[in-house]
Amino acid sequence: MFDLSTLFAAARASGRAVPVILDGDPGHDDAIGWMLAKASPLLDIRAVTSCAGNQTLEKTTYNARRICALLGIDAPIAMGLHHPLLSDPITAGNIHGQSGLDGPRLPEPVGELSPLTAVELMAKVLRESAEPVVIVVTGPETNVAALLLAHPELKPKIAGISVMGGGIAYGNWTAAAEFNILVDPEAAEIVFSSGLPVQMCGLDVTERALIFPEDFERIRAVDNGVARVVAEWLDFFYRFHRTLGYAGAPVHDPCAIASLLHPELFTIREMHVAIETRGEYCRGTTVGDTSGRLGPANARCVMDVDRDGFAALLLDAVKAYNGWEVPQA
Ligand code: RIB
Ligand code: CA
Repeated sequence: MFDLSTLFAAARASGRAVPVILDGDPGHDDAIGWMLAKASPLLDIRAVTSCAGNQTLEKTTYNARRICALLGIDAPIAMGLHHPLLSDPITAGNIHGQSGLDGPRLPEPVGELSPLTAVELMAKVLRESAEPVVIVVTGPETNVAALLLAHPELKPKIAGISVMGGGIAYGNWTAAAEFNILVDPEAAEIVFSSGLPVQMCGLDVTERALIFPEDFERIRAVDNGVARVVAEWLDFFYRFHRTLGYAGAPVHDPCAIASLLHPELFTIREMHVAIETRGEYCRGTTVGDTSGRLGPANARCVMDVDRDGFAALLLDAVKAYNGWEVPQA
């Protein structure tokens, strides 16, 4: 199965950045993932698109625009679909706060929101790109599924899809389902059955990608505008997880970027992943099968991480913003 690590190995060898679209529901961990993406010379961010998830679409869009202002991401930003393909919306204000990105003050958006919808912007980027584009989705997969339904002719321009979502072993929003998949199981089913290379960072790896309070302090000590905000995002994100007994903040979304950039830090297994779209208790479950009973492998599932190496990656990334003048919050 063609996998994204081949693409990134070639990019490292050639020094040519890989074009990428960032789609998410920021969200503290989405924001930290986008920070990691912007800091990497291996990624060329061509567009940012918002989806409904952690908070309503209006809030995640506003957050996406503020994050791009903070980080200096000057790619076009477009608003996605207002709610899942078939499900009723679910939000996570209990984790990310009423704004969806509570905590530190952030600069106001710079520039205008694209007049295009997320699907239109994604399609435009795919059409105009000389080479296939990687889509990194760190929220419900509603926009990506809509893109695949509306523009099947553009699939050859998608190099692959890196997903934060699911969990082979367990869920976090229900016993069986992880939040991003549960919000829009039909969208996930469309993505995982698309035939495109899918790399899935589920809870199996993201709950091992724990960032500890001592890591927050190392990041804060970098003492540039971005580092100070990232440390506060981690403080806020950890506040909820500490109540559940976590030793650190499980920064889910950055794994979907880090596993592309540094596959050597991760354990990855190919398997067939089926999305349960029915069931009173199991809707939204990602069922992983390596026996072949459910069909050939359709995803590379990231199952474990070198935690210390991952924490060091985030620390190096915030240092890349030394000298960047964050706009006034
Ligand atoms: O289950 C974790 C996922 O749900 C992360 O993407 C987080 O941002 C929320 O969207
Ligand atoms: Ca997210």
